[in-house]
Amino acid sequence: MARLPVKIAPSILATDFTRLGEHVSEAIVGGADWLHVDIMDGRFVPNISFGPMIPQAIRPLADAANIPLDVHLMIEEPERYLKQFAQAGAARLTVHAEATRHLHRTVQDIKELGIKAGVALNPATSLTAVEEILPDVDLILIMSVNPGFGGQSYIPQSSSKIRRLRRMLTDRGSSAWLEVDGGISAKNAADIAAAGATALVAGSAIFRGEKSVADNITEMKNVVRTVFSV
Ligand code: DX5
Ligand code: ZN
Repeated sequence: MARLPVKIAPSILATDFTRLGEHVSEAIVGGADWLHVDIMDGRFVPNISFGPMIPQAIRPLADAANIPLDVHLMIEEPERYLKQFAQAGAARLTVHAEATRHLHRTVQDIKELGIKAGVALNPATSLTAVEEILPDVDLILIMSVNPGFGGQSYIPQSSSKIRRLRRMLTDRGSSAWLEVDGGISAKNAADIAAAGATALVAGSAIFRGEKSVADNITEMKNVVRTVFSV
């Protein structure tokens, strides 16, 4: 079977934390391309999740399978914690454009740590917020829910934003990943991929879905496959 041009990134926020390692292993064996790690500080978003100890704990599992840890920092002034998360095993650090005053500097700081840099946008933040930084980033993350909680519904207007960002990336010859996060399931994954996403984050649909973790990942991959006929 041909390789799917869209990465599936299960969000560990939706795992059963009493059996985090097992759940993560199920996702890895089940075909996860990346592991998405949500860091929430109770300031930038109303919820608190966990700190660098959790990515550090699952890092051996991810490393053994050569799966990158895709760390999404929903924290104010993320520049304060870049090093800690890089040391905890992040292959990629994504900061919110709304959370850092000097985005260009923060992006350069991430790259100086030898890892990939991403920039996330809240649903109400315009794409112009990343226009000037596009040549410097490896990934743009479009939030399709207001960040802070798993299990929310996909905001429908996100699809038009994804299409516009896809055009912007194409026009500028950028090969940055276009990641989408929030409310993604097998029901809407094909449309989101068709709009131009190249990485889909999914928490509830994968770890709390109807079937096993592996079957939920396979189902999502299969619906995305229909878009590319691969
Ligand atoms: C939301 C987080 C998401 C979340 C996605 O603030 O950034 O990564 O875990 O969860 P679902 O797939 O349940 O919407
Ligand atoms: Zn996330």
